[in-house]
Amino acid sequence: MPSSSDNPARPAAGVRLCALDEIADPGAKGFRFRAERWLFAGFVVRSGDLLRGYVDSCPHASWPLGMDDRYLTRDNGHILCAGHGALFKLDGLCVAGPCVGQHLHDWPVVLADGALFTA
Ligand code: FES
Repeated sequence: MPSSSDNPARPAAGVRLCALDEIADPGAKGFRFRAERWLFAGFVVRSGDLLRGYVDSCPHASWPLGMDDRYLTRDNGHILCAGHGALFKLDGLCVAGPCVGQHLHDWPVVLADGALFTA
């Protein structure tokens, strides 16, 4: 299994993901890309001025964190891993659960002309 950075399904820079309006504020949105047998999963968190993308793979057991765009806690204050309940600050740092102190892997995104693109 390749790491997230050499996954052949990971989109190159400049790929349009969605309009900014398609992500709730606060909220999150997941993205999936396939290339033959490879799958790359990422998600973007939006909260006010914060807009950050992460690889959708928990540092605990590499499971996807969420599905159907449900990545945040009910109060939208943290990212929640559905696997074993790890909680991450919106900056990606795990603050509770089995991987405290570890970080989600960044998946850089940029905003241009009201839309999100891979960076
Ligand atoms: S896979 Fe995320 S907490 Fe275990």
